[in-house]
Amino acid sequence: MTEDELDRLLDKLTLRARVRLLSGATTWRTPAEPAIGLRELVMSDGPAGVRGESWDERRTALLLPSASALAATWDDELVERLGTLLAAEARRKGVDVILAPNLNLHRSPLGGRHFECFSEDPELTGRVGAALIRGVQARGVAAVAKHYVANDSETERLTVDVRVGERALREVYLAPFEHAVAAGVMAVMAGYNAVNGHTMTASPLLSDPLRSEWGFDGVVISDWGAVRSTLDTARAGLDLAMPGPESVWGEALVRAVEDGEVPESAVDDKVRHLLRFAALVGALGELGDGGPAARDPSDGGPAVRDPGARAPGARHLDCRGPDACALDVRDVDERGPDARVLSGRGPDHRGPGARWRSHAPTGVRSREARAQLRGAAAAGAVLLANRGALPLGREVRRLAVIGPHAARTRSQGGGSAGVFPQHEVSVLEGLRALLRGRAEVVHVPGPAHDESGRALGVDLCTDPRSGLPGVLLRVLDASGSELYAERRSSARQLEPTLVPGAHTVEIRARLRPRVTGRWTLGIAGFGRMRLSLDEQVLLDGEFARRTDDPALVHVTPPVHNAVAQLTAGQDVLVVARRQLAPGTGRATIVSAAPPPPDVPRSIAEAARAAGSADAAVVVVGTTEHSESEGYDRSGLALGDAQNALVRAVAAANPRTVAVVNSGGPVELPWRDEVGAVLLAWFPGQEGGGGLADVLLGRAEPGGRLPTTWPVALSDAPVSRTRPAGGRLDYDEGLHTGYRAWLRHHRTPAYWFGHGLGYTTWVYEELAGPGEVAAGEPFTVHVRVRNTGPRTGREVVQVYLARAGGEVEYPHRWLAGYTAVHAGPGETVTAAVRVPARALRHWSTGDGAWRTEPGPCKVLAGCSAGSLPLSLDVEVRGNG
Ligand code: BGC
Repeated sequence: MTEDELDRLLDKLTLRARVRLLSGATTWRTPAEPAIGLRELVMSDGPAGVRGESWDERRTALLLPSASALAATWDDELVERLGTLLAAEARRKGVDVILAPNLNLHRSPLGGRHFECFSEDPELTGRVGAALIRGVQARGVAAVAKHYVANDSETERLTVDVRVGERALREVYLAPFEHAVAAGVMAVMAGYNAVNGHTMTASPLLSDPLRSEWGFDGVVISDWGAVRSTLDTARAGLDLAMPGPESVWGEALVRAVEDGEVPESAVDDKVRHLLRFAALVGALGELGDGGPAARDPSDGGPAVRDPGARAPGARHLDCRGPDACALDVRDVDERGPDARVLSGRGPDHRGPGARWRSHAPTGVRSREARAQLRGAAAAGAVLLANRGALPLGREVRRLAVIGPHAARTRSQGGGSAGVFPQHEVSVLEGLRALLRGRAEVVHVPGPAHDESGRALGVDLCTDPRSGLPGVLLRVLDASGSELYAERRSSARQLEPTLVPGAHTVEIRARLRPRVTGRWTLGIAGFGRMRLSLDEQVLLDGEFARRTDDPALVHVTPPVHNAVAQLTAGQDVLVVARRQLAPGTGRATIVSAAPPPPDVPRSIAEAARAAGSADAAVVVVGTTEHSESEGYDRSGLALGDAQNALVRAVAAANPRTVAVVNSGGPVELPWRDEVGAVLLAWFPGQEGGGGLADVLLGRAEPGGRLPTTWPVALSDAPVSRTRPAGGRLDYDEGLHTGYRAWLRHHRTPAYWFGHGLGYTTWVYEELAGPGEVAAGEPFTVHVRVRNTGPRTGREVVQVYLARAGGEVEYPHRWLAGYTAVHAGPGETVTAAVRVPARALRHWSTGDGAWRTEPGPCKVLAGCSAGSLPLSLDVEVRGNG
């Protein structure tokens, strides 16, 4: 789209019409403008899947492994392919823009969104992030690099002022975003936080280096609700305030322009960015008639213009007219036969201008996509230690599969990234499927997690009206009359359908306790709430909202618990009500948890099962309360019960494999007592299949750590995430991640880059140029030999180290990597490209990138802590 064309479009719009385009129309959509052929842009969260516009458990999405697992593959091509899968999902759901990838760093192991970010290292983060962006955008769907910048922890995330030196900001925190821009990312999301005194939605960093130096010409979108003032954000490089329709831009911005407080040219620049962006995703002009789903019939059914018509195979119809319908009309198949829609909210969704779109059935989860996700889970699994316990061969005739995460493998982290997978394969299911007819699988869960706060679902209750599994969701008017009712499969309702007159959301469930004892029942949400059990009121009150964080308000509000004595097999009726009121968020969640387990007894039972098996797999991990958006973790311990479980199982069977199901580092105090430690991460919907492939040796554990794992939190050189007086000082400067461990001469449990395969490697030779020119890339060659019994894959890593000059450098830093494959006894030479940027530093004096001439060491090996080969290189010139 040329500048002239853009000008012509701008000329057609009044100031008010231009400003209107700059705030969201709804939570996930931008406004349409028929006068210029602009349709709405539809956005959806990622990064592990494309949830779409609604928080509805029936709107399922393919669930990829979490970002830390993807980075653990150290495989840009694989990640790029997964990006195309995300794009296909976006098209299937009529989504133009995926709010992913998350390019913030694993600065502290306590970071609550660790699972959602790639790595502690800017180069690995940048490369993997760029790969995902390429994959997504190759199919005309926009990716959004978020959260610009230094939004690396959650505590006080809406207001924290991160203080970080200019050099560290450039070389560490901005670097992945620079990669993203170089990869052509179409959008950048400005974070909630402030950096060096400027809130990011009004930060000068939105112009410099983003637009000036890097040449970004896409659109800058605010994080949801991050625009809290009009003038400074409008004057800054921010283009689009999300969500809407409420916005501190709108009329206030029109007035500010009329009063001369914000130049009109600032508004025009923003609109230009937005229109150029809209053109790229096919939302402007002739293409504006179509949009992703309509343009790719292979991913969805044909577009349907007549609301009365149904496309073959269509499962739901969305209204996508200029005035978005608040109420989607869905096929009864998807909502269940007992659903009744009484009325809709918002403009007439059958009115003129309304556009209808069909989507492919949610059952379209091609075998290929599932296989790809299964392969990705195996490719990201990191074998931290192996004392001959893995792989489990045919000699294993009886396998004990133990642990709370064995049957309930946690496939994703919590918060806005959450999607509803159509199914999830647990480690137990994965193993059972592969061992059927070959070995006996004995499952003992061991002590269960504290499940208080876990939403009621089909496993525990039935809808009292139909008697079918699930809960009854009712929307009531002020007099308590039912306006709307439907059976749902979960009591975690984040977006009940709001029909006119809606006053109260009610969730009813007939709970059948499996065990006798003191159950914990809870309700989560804000505002006036009541929870009763067989008409006995357990909780009743006004629960005030004490946070503005949208993730906490709408997705994970605090739970209020009560305890009740229940008898196994004796049904009880649980009724929860929450009054709908402005400012109380959308979520209503009802939970029920069985009495705490008898820990010693369940551990003894697990140990017995392990003792009578040929091998044991014990799956442990973090809970949804410990790793989620909106707050940081309080520690890295798995908890006494899980640690005791692993120890008891290992004592009972020396061939015990501990599988760790977490998105970020946890302490593994028993790591030397078990036969093997395999890190599963949050492996996505097919995780259990991929992990079973690895455990049984059908696939190599392909992963290498994207982040250094401490023995104990107290060892981690950088861990604080709590701001002091609103400020969080990044005192460590450039020395983040493994660089900090090296600087402090500390030894972690496992270094960045570490991970074993099923074969062994010897690093034989490193060859490269004796001299390199500043500002030029160069290539080194690393010869490795497969000295083990199997064909394998090795991730060859190259680091640089410089000392003695005038410039301060990290102890060493990752410069490049590549993977090689070789059969037993074979040698293979990896060509590793060292980009010019690996040698440069940001000169704060010059305000520019510089490359220092002089000696430099190139190091090659298999982790930041194991680099057996080195080469001296002389850097010539001054770049
Ligand atoms: C998160 C973003 C997310 C947005 C929309 C925010 O709270 O920080 O990552 O994309 O919500 O859900």
